[in-house]
Amino acid sequence: MTRKGPEGLLISPIRHGTVIDHITAGQALNVLRILGITGTTSEEVSVATNVASGRVGKKDIVKIENRELRKEEVDRIALIAPDATINIIREYAVVEKKGVEHPRELLGVVRCPNPGCITNTAEPARSRFIVVRNGLRCHYCDWLISKEIAEHIL
Ligand code: CTP
Ligand code: ZN
Repeated sequence: MTRKGPEGLLISPIRHGTVIDHITAGQALNVLRILGITGTTSEEVSVATNVASGRVGKKDIVKIENRELRKEEVDRIALIAPDATINIIREYAVVEKKGVEHPRELLGVVRCPNPGCITNTAEPARSRFIVVRNGLRCHYCDWLISKEIAEHIL
């Protein structure tokens, strides 16, 4: 728990907040997008990408001071970073560490790309996707999202 990873050379420990670790390499910016962090928000955020990691080869890391994540945010992160771990930091110590969950169904999490889908009408049904082997399948119109899932996250 106290061993310093190679990322310690790149980004400092934080005092209070959340460290999202073991993010699939290359997905850090999508994680920031899910969290609504843009260049103009005021949060203190550090990002490392393509850091060497024993477990997954290479990984990205996002550290956010003074923020804990909501479940809806973690569930979205799970879609693009299935191996991510969420570490809650208080007074520099990791007080909680958990992996992300992989639900079999996603309600209101992704937008169906099919313009004719009932979830995209004037009075839309809530989007509902089933997690299948090769992606996400719309419960209503069977549309399969198999790549660039990040672009469809609501
Ligand atoms: N971390 C941090 N600031 C702190 C404490 C930890 O930024 N004050 C970061 C570490 O750099 C690491 C993550 O939070 O990226 C988890 O910390 P820790 O559990 O100590 O590291 P490991 O044991 O390497 O984690 P794991 O077993 O999940 O790989
Ligand atoms: Zn659909």
